[in-house]
Amino acid sequence: MSTQQSASRSQRLNQITHEPHGRLDALVKAHAPFETPAGYARFVVAQYLFQSELVALYNDAQLGSLIPDLPARCRAEAARADLADLDTEIPSPVAGAVTNPSQAEALGWLFVSEGSKLGAAFLIKRAEGLGLSETFGARHLAEPAGGRAEGWKTFTRTLDSLVFTPEQEAEADKGALDAFNRFTVLLEHAYTAESA
Ligand code: HEM
Repeated sequence: MSTQQSASRSQRLNQITHEPHGRLDALVKAHAPFETPAGYARFVVAQYLFQSELVALYNDAQLGSLIPDLPARCRAEAARADLADLDTEIPSPVAGAVTNPSQAEALGWLFVSEGSKLGAAFLIKRAEGLGLSETFGARHLAEPAGGRAEGWKTFTRTLDSLVFTPEQEAEADKGALDAFNRFTVLLEHAYTAESA
């Protein structure tokens, strides 16, 4: 309706990923990642694989000109350090990583990666139950400097301020949905691979 305020881009991305998020949340829980250290290590393998596939995006100069603290937001190194804490080998890359996405598509991926820091507030509490912390084993779930809410707000504010064509809006949607699919693939890989 013309009198209705249209949702922001980040609100739309939130809406279209609501279902995939619910499915992924259930899948994570089905693997009971916080029951045992070994189960948790598998979860970190998935997180590491996902984050390591996004390193090029977090360090992309053009994306960085839009989001100035982008490189500092990357959690690949934190996840790698967690794997070392857990005496877990760095997994080999898994075929099918995102390559050369358009800028809008890349922002859809980053939306998902950055959004996952919100749920991490709950996950780190569970990890603490295994004796882990933001300085050992659960570094990648740590609260970012400046706070989770603030980091998310500045990310979405920037994302929402960009002028997109309808094609770019569709690319951003695709990037966000692809990111959820990819995390699902990597999670299943991490829990089934014999020596991932
Ligand atoms: C790879 C991507 C993601 C993964 C693996 C993930 C995983 C999870 C999991 C497992 C929980 C449940 C925590 C608990 O109840 O103990 C959760 C909660 C949450 N997630 Fe995500 N998430 C992802 C992306 C996102 C995105 C993109 C957003 C925001 C747009 C988001 C926002 C939240 C919020 C606000 C919660 C808190 C509880 C709730 O409202 O359901 N997550 N997430």
